[in-house]
Amino acid sequence: MKTIEVLVDRPYPVHIGQDLLNDIAGAVPTSANKVAIIFAPAVTSRAHSIGDLLKQEVVYVELPDGELAKTPQALQECWEILGKNAFTRSDFIISVGGGATSDLAGFVAATWLRGVNAIHVPTTLLAMVDAAVGGKTGINISAGKNLVGAFHHPHSVWCDIETLNTLPIADLRAGFGEIVKCGFISDVVILDVVRKHGAQLVDVQHPALIELISRSIAVKAAVVADDFTESKIGGLGREILNYGHTLAHAIEKFENYGRRHGEAVSIGMVFVAELSAQLGKLSQAEVAEHRLLLQSLGLPTSYDGRAWPELRGAMSIDKKSRGDVLRFVVLESIGVPAIAESPSEEQLQAAFVAISVGGGR
Ligand code: GLY
Repeated sequence: MKTIEVLVDRPYPVHIGQDLLNDIAGAVPTSANKVAIIFAPAVTSRAHSIGDLLKQEVVYVELPDGELAKTPQALQECWEILGKNAFTRSDFIISVGGGATSDLAGFVAATWLRGVNAIHVPTTLLAMVDAAVGGKTGINISAGKNLVGAFHHPHSVWCDIETLNTLPIADLRAGFGEIVKCGFISDVVILDVVRKHGAQLVDVQHPALIELISRSIAVKAAVVADDFTESKIGGLGREILNYGHTLAHAIEKFENYGRRHGEAVSIGMVFVAELSAQLGKLSQAEVAEHRLLLQSLGLPTSYDGRAWPELRGAMSIDKKSRGDVLRFVVLESIGVPAIAESPSEEQLQAAFVAISVGGGR
C-alpha cells in the first residue's frame, strides 16, 4: 500500500493499494459509535462489505446514480437519516462511489453539526485521482453545477484498485484524462509512462496503474497543500488543476452532461495546448505530443467545429472566469503551467479550428 499525505492545516492520508477492506474498516476510531455509509447503487455490495467489517452501528444510505446524487433533495434525505439516527460529532460518514458520491457525502459531512469526519472510498479512477482528494464538496442547483458547497478535509481517502474491476472500461479510460493532465501540468514522468505503455494501461491489472494513480494524487496533494481554497494571490494556485477544463465544462454543458468528464478534459487539453501555441508558448511538437498521448489511450482530441458559438458562449460564464476576464490555464512548456488572461477572439477561434472536425474547419 502507498500512502500520500495531503499536508493541509489538518493533514490526512490518501492510501492506494489492493484489497483494502479491512484497513478501511480499521480506520474508523473506536470513539465513533455510528457510521453512515453513503454509497452509489453500482457499488452496493462493496458498501456492504465495508459495513460488515465495522464494529460500529451502520446506517446505509443509497444515493441516486451519478449527478442525481448531487441534489438538494438527496442532501436533505441524508440529513434526515442522520437526524433520525441521532448522529453526533464523533460519528463517521464513509462515502463509497464516484465523484458525485464523495461530493455529496463530503458536503453532508461538512454541514452535519457543522462538520463531522468523512472517509472517502472512491470507486472510479476519476474519483481516485481527482474528486475524492482535495476537500471540495457540494451539490448542483438549477442555476449551475457545484454552486453550493464547502471545503472540508476528509479524515482519510482509500483508493482500492480492487474496486476498479467492476468499472466499465469507458469510465476507466476516461479517468486517464485527469491522469495525463497531472503529467502535463507537473509530473512529466506520468507522460513517460503513458508514452511507454499507451493503450495497455487501460487495464486494471497493469502494473503501472498504481504508480500513475499515486503520482497523480501526489500532484493534486501538492497543489491543494499550497492553495486549499483556490484563493492564492500571486503565483499559481489550485487553479492549475483546471488545465483543459474551461472548454471541457463548455462541452459538458453543450452535451447536457452526457459526456464523460475525462473525455471532455482530453479535448479541452488539446484546445488549450493549441491556445498555448497561439500565444507563442508551446511548440507545435508539444501540441502534437498532447494528441499522441491522449489518442494512444483512446481518448478524444477533436470536436465538432459547428459547436463553436455555443461553446464560446458557455466559456464566458464558466465559474473559473473572474469578473469579465476569461482566464485559461496554459502551458509555458510541458510540465510548466501559466495563466493566460483574455486571449484574443482570433487566438481562441484559431485554437478551436485546430481541434475541429466537420463544418467548422
Ligand atoms: N478538480 C479540481 C480541484 O479539485 O480543484
